[in-house]
Amino acid sequence: MSASAEPQYRPETRLIHAGTLRSQFGETSEALFLTQGFVYDSAEQCAARFTGEEPGYLYSRFSNPTVSMFEQRMCALEGAEAARATATGMAAVTTALMGQLKAGDHIVAAKALFGSCRYVAEILLPRFGVPCTLVDGADLDQWRKAVQPNTKAFFLESPTNPTLDVVDIAEVAKIAHDAGATLTVDNVFATPLWQSPLTLGADCVVYSATKHIDGQGRCLGGIILSTEKFIQDNIHQLLRQTGPSMSPFNAWLLLKGLETLAVRVERQTETAGKVADVLAGHPKITRLIYPGRADHPQAAIIRKQMKAGSTLVCFEVAGGKAGAFRFLNALKLLRITNNLGDAKSLVTHPATTTHQRLTQPERDELGISDGIVRFSAGLEHPEDIIEDLSQALEKA
Ligand SMILES: Cc1ncc(COP(=O)(O)O)c(C=O)c1O
Repeated sequence: MSASAEPQYRPETRLIHAGTLRSQFGETSEALFLTQGFVYDSAEQCAARFTGEEPGYLYSRFSNPTVSMFEQRMCALEGAEAARATATGMAAVTTALMGQLKAGDHIVAAKALFGSCRYVAEILLPRFGVPCTLVDGADLDQWRKAVQPNTKAFFLESPTNPTLDVVDIAEVAKIAHDAGATLTVDNVFATPLWQSPLTLGADCVVYSATKHIDGQGRCLGGIILSTEKFIQDNIHQLLRQTGPSMSPFNAWLLLKGLETLAVRVERQTETAGKVADVLAGHPKITRLIYPGRADHPQAAIIRKQMKAGSTLVCFEVAGGKAGAFRFLNALKLLRITNNLGDAKSLVTHPATTTHQRLTQPERDELGISDGIVRFSAGLEHPEDIIEDLSQALEKA
């Protein structure tokens, strides 16, 4: 196997070539190594692989050539030294946080998190002796005041799911580092194309590869990216010994997904911007949040830390849950789901799905009213999407 030479090409080029390991057959497309384990020429070689004296693959729970290609391509895109792929985005989030923390430590996290991420921070970690303080991510003073002598980690997502609020990553990273803590950023909504948390000062980035990276609704996956030292100190052993690994088949699908990531995300962002502009003035829409618009409440931070808006638009349909449900049920082309980042345009009602575990006051605090709908732009013709949204709004 030979790794391709990788000078500093632009991101679109790295998405197609970085990390490729070509076998002796010289295949064009990346090979799918659907194998659990590996064989050795001798008992001595096997022993040397296990002690680490000889590099090479051992067992697909912790390393596999197809999975390595996916990890290396993501490193090249993100500007990270090392990465570990996981079975799902939640496996990445859980491993990234649990790997850094032990009983007696403390974590500070933004309140506005995807439901399962908030469960990990707010419910799961405290069960293992790691108390969590939740803060309003936009309020830097709350991050500062939440710090305790044992604070070891900060965690946030930006833009947030589903209300697309933005957190100033560089400022929060400074507060974390002054406190001797690390910052982990869930970068799913921004995608690796529009925001680079490591460059902004974060220590660790996590993705649900299930979303834009696959981009075609086929498989689940996740990835943790950081420095070699961070991965070795915090992540490697936990993954190796507990096993939430990515399957080689999914890594292969995700490699194919990365090849088209730039064209998909650029087109979806353009479509989302058009949808946001049309819906912003609609009489049945009482609130609209889109990171690419000048009226986003944190437009100045977005200009500072993001290269473009988002493939998602969040809006509130008049008439609360009944209005939102009438609208969703009247859609003909757009599909109701709880996923995002797909080639198909998708709509979600967060209050009854992704954020249903939260209490009503908790949802109110995050601005997730019963009328809120999250729209994920697909690759259909933008006019077909806008026509479908418009006809459904008439019935809302
Ligand atoms: C922001 C965010 N983080 C993490 C996840 C979890 O990813 P997965 O479904 O791949 O476990 C999701 C899934 O919706 C998400 O939206």
